[in-house]
Amino acid sequence: MPADRPESEELVLAFLAEAADEFVSGEAISNKLGLTRAAVWKHVESLRAQGYRIDAVPARGYRLTGVPDRLTPLELRPLLNTHDLGRVVHWFEEISSTSDRAKELADQGAEHGEVVVAEAQTSGRGRRGRAWASPARKNLYFSVVLRPELPPARAPELTLVGSVAVCDALRQAGVQAGIKWPNDLLASGRKIAGILTELAAEPDRVEWVVLGAGVNVNARPEDFPAEVRDEATSVLLERGQAAPRALFAAACLTALEDWIDRHAEEGFGPIREAWRERSVTLGREVVVTVDGRELAGVAEDIDETGALLVRTRVGVERIISGDVQLLRPR
Ligand code: BTN
Repeated sequence: MPADRPESEELVLAFLAEAADEFVSGEAISNKLGLTRAAVWKHVESLRAQGYRIDAVPARGYRLTGVPDRLTPLELRPLLNTHDLGRVVHWFEEISSTSDRAKELADQGAEHGEVVVAEAQTSGRGRRGRAWASPARKNLYFSVVLRPELPPARAPELTLVGSVAVCDALRQAGVQAGIKWPNDLLASGRKIAGILTELAAEPDRVEWVVLGAGVNVNARPEDFPAEVRDEATSVLLERGQAAPRALFAAACLTALEDWIDRHAEEGFGPIREAWRERSVTLGREVVVTVDGRELAGVAEDIDETGALLVRTRVGVERIISGDVQLLRPR
């Protein structure tokens, strides 16, 4: 038998997770992973000490019955079926901002798909320099390093890719989410998630993009600062039931990788279509604030670059960056 390896614990956990509710014998784990039965037992004990619930029944083996509500690589990786996203997970109990850390890692050569995830952020950032409320162990805060083969002018497309992916993960979790241009995720008219993309580029190519996502998963009203309490919601508040954060994180990363692949293979066309289908902006009366100027009209469409087209009294305005306020409901 080979000597015990540090990743053995993760493999034992993945094996148990794959068996779902079934028992797996110590012998099967030991044969499959090339570990002694004593080493398997040691890993089971260590996993239990970290909050995993594992039944051990003589002559039947082991069965995983509960996972801790944490987002460490140990929880996340067995749930991920992705080829690149989340192959490397940098986990923090608390950090200033996952996007700041991901940008540092990208500058140091981090690979496409490396993920930074934290249980809490002390300086979580939103678009336009706003703060992003990041209470500990309630929600999901992650940033992914991407290295797309794109000219810098097309990088904003990835913001819409991110919003479509997170919208899909929310809908899979049973939340009727929709997208407000460009990338705010709303449910019942309140904000449930947001995407922040930042990049470094040379004149003709993107060096890296850091796509940061914040999703309100299990936060209750008292977890949000007073100033955003009335405008924010969460998966828990929308469906009346808490969501396992690791499962939800895996769903986000899987959807994100699927849409990133589609974008790389087929371009922006399918993303534009998917964004339109999920939009709660198009067809609505809006006021858009652009550089302090307010522009009123009806949001008609997004163009082939992702810009918002608003019909005003004087014609159609093309907006590449701004804050949208939705007026009357449809
Ligand atoms: C927005 O809607 O304004 C975007 C919010 C983005 C928040 C996420 S949380 C993870 C990542 N780290 C940050 O500091 N911001 C993003």
